[in-house]
Amino acid sequence: MPIITDKENKVFNLQTPNTSYIFGIYKNKLPLHIHYGRKINGKINIEDVVSTERVPLSPVYKIDGEVVCEEALPLEYPLYGSCDLRTPAFHARYADGSRITDLEYTGCNIYKGKKPLSGLPATYTENDSEADTVEIFLEDKKTKLSLTLKYTAFSRHDAVTRSVYLKNNGTEDIFLTSVQSASVDLIGKNYNFSHLDGNWACERNLHTVPLENGNFYIDSKRGASSHMFNPFMMLSDPKATESTGDVYGFSLVYSGNFSAGAYVDSYDMTRASIGINPFDFCWKLAPGEDFQTPEAVLVYSDEGIGKMSRTYHKLYRTRLCRGKYRDAQRPVLINNWEGTYFDFNEEKILDIAKKAAETGIELMVLDDGWFGKRNDEKTSLGDWFVNREKLPNGIEGLAQKVEDLGMKFGLWFEPEMISEKSELYKAHPDWCIHVEGRRKSEGRNQFVLDLTRDEVCRFVTDTVAQHLENAKISYIKWDMNRYITEAGSQSLPSDRQGEVMHRYMLGLYKILGELTERFPDVLFEGCSAGGGRFDPGMLYYFPQIWTSDCSDAVERIRIQHGTSIVYPFSAMGAHVSASPNHQTKRVSSLDIRGNVAIPGQFGYELDITAMSDEELDAVREQIKNYKKLRDIFHKGDLYRLESPFESNGAVWEFVSEDKNTVALCVYSMMADMTRGKKTVKLCGIDDDAVYRLEGENREFSGDILKNIGLNKGIYFSKIEDYLSRIMIFKKVKK
Ligand code: DGJ
Repeated sequence: MPIITDKENKVFNLQTPNTSYIFGIYKNKLPLHIHYGRKINGKINIEDVVSTERVPLSPVYKIDGEVVCEEALPLEYPLYGSCDLRTPAFHARYADGSRITDLEYTGCNIYKGKKPLSGLPATYTENDSEADTVEIFLEDKKTKLSLTLKYTAFSRHDAVTRSVYLKNNGTEDIFLTSVQSASVDLIGKNYNFSHLDGNWACERNLHTVPLENGNFYIDSKRGASSHMFNPFMMLSDPKATESTGDVYGFSLVYSGNFSAGAYVDSYDMTRASIGINPFDFCWKLAPGEDFQTPEAVLVYSDEGIGKMSRTYHKLYRTRLCRGKYRDAQRPVLINNWEGTYFDFNEEKILDIAKKAAETGIELMVLDDGWFGKRNDEKTSLGDWFVNREKLPNGIEGLAQKVEDLGMKFGLWFEPEMISEKSELYKAHPDWCIHVEGRRKSEGRNQFVLDLTRDEVCRFVTDTVAQHLENAKISYIKWDMNRYITEAGSQSLPSDRQGEVMHRYMLGLYKILGELTERFPDVLFEGCSAGGGRFDPGMLYYFPQIWTSDCSDAVERIRIQHGTSIVYPFSAMGAHVSASPNHQTKRVSSLDIRGNVAIPGQFGYELDITAMSDEELDAVREQIKNYKKLRDIFHKGDLYRLESPFESNGAVWEFVSEDKNTVALCVYSMMADMTRGKKTVKLCGIDDDAVYRLEGENREFSGDILKNIGLNKGIYFSKIEDYLSRIMIFKKVKK
């Protein structure tokens, strides 16, 4: 039973296989946080476990004649307007100009399963036995604002989801200025704060800072979750490692402006909160209107960061990603972008496809430059009609010819954008996000379409749908190459301009919802100048995302390692590109380029027609290997045994679900003279089994691999820069 309710004490214990999230209703009015951590089965009396003592200087109020000092209480959903002056999760402005909210508990609803969130991506269940949900109803008596705290506890994943639903049942407008999806007052202040930061082509580096009294926040104000920060934070015991210690993950199923942070107070409590960025957010809730926040996914692990990651991987892979390609193997692709950029014609694309087909590649993806007058980045976004000079037989003709080669055909789009130099802009200059009378800043020579408008969303949906109907297109790469600035919409009244950024996301999610439903056989891959929108919101529509525009194998070790803190390798688009690499100019072997890309959703992005016969043989071998191993990388458990953020290399261990196969991916960046002196201990395997190393006549017992480890000297027979190896261990005996 994932949710245990103690009706008498009004305590709710949300249990997952190994964790409990517990809160209670204090004095029948105020929701207090009690515990998030190891599983608890005992009966709880709030006053026994929460210190309700008054603290000096803090203002108080009374419930039923008894003093309540909110400043020092662990609050389940802190509001501005109470005596708690820490950072609130909720802040609103009312018709009389006041900003005071006072919510009281009015009841609850518990049910099996999990309902979808209206208009927003979220984790889901396939049958009601997979989770239990509790809704806590609160009401502000003065304004008749009702607020529902929604929680779901999964019965097979150590994850709890939270979101907030609001309804204005009153007669006057309410302006919401901050509605966080989750806020948790953790007891204690000795936490490290980790997050994934970066920039274009170097996304999701793992960074950790020790928390101090005060606020530490990460956010995006860019209209996309962004390259700079990811909608994820981790609070952990400073001594936690990959395999030990207490770790709390907070991940937001959202692709737009978010904030995630922690506030350490003066009474040894740490308030963690995550949600839509309150910065520049102001949502008018007119009488009768409602508002749903995005979903936060909370994961607690008492076995370090690795276990938290594995929980996210499995949950997101199986209960966030959807559609045919959630489970189906996805095709090995070749993308022409780094092979030709804008300089291609039908003949060139078919030459690439022919060579690719001979090596076992299954999908030919035509990237940017096939439409309008687009021969560079300066023009034509919005003019989604084919450039017949390049493709005389149109997309239909090309797609058919690719199919005739026994391959599938895929197409690049950047549908959210409009070039100033385009027919679309001439016809609809008001269709881009901007503020009248203000400068319109360009990013990559383009503006962003105003997806807060229904007619613009219709145009985007119909344009992509038409192509999907007219030609044999099996795959779409959905790109988005600039952030939103000068956020304003010509179609919204002045008191709704603070809604633009969130309405943009709602418009985008509606488009993606319709297209993925209408075309269930098409594989969609997300992209945003590489990994600028690699987030759980996108994964709901796109089971894979182009991880980064940096295709250099050595840089990719760090990028994919950081990405794996939250996201499974099954979600990471990873390609072998040319050497020297186009971004870093680094020269590297085909071997390391293949070995780094193989654990992800594998493909090639180079001019395959320029490869030698020897290289083509190696490509054939890589593809054969990948096809043999992909289920282990995509469905197995990941153990990160060595971090490129802390060392000169990385070791990723993937263990198949049945523990019969282990794929050990080993990377060494710079020549390491001491490597032979180090050992690495494997995880997640059977102690009493014997594993044989494929290709070598060597056997190792599970307990030795786990407890003594593998001497790193056996990975590589040479010492030089950029070494890599994928070692396969198969269980031979029990
Ligand atoms: C940015 C993407 O990340 C690249 O892979 C490529 O599709 C270009 N856009 C095309 O303009």
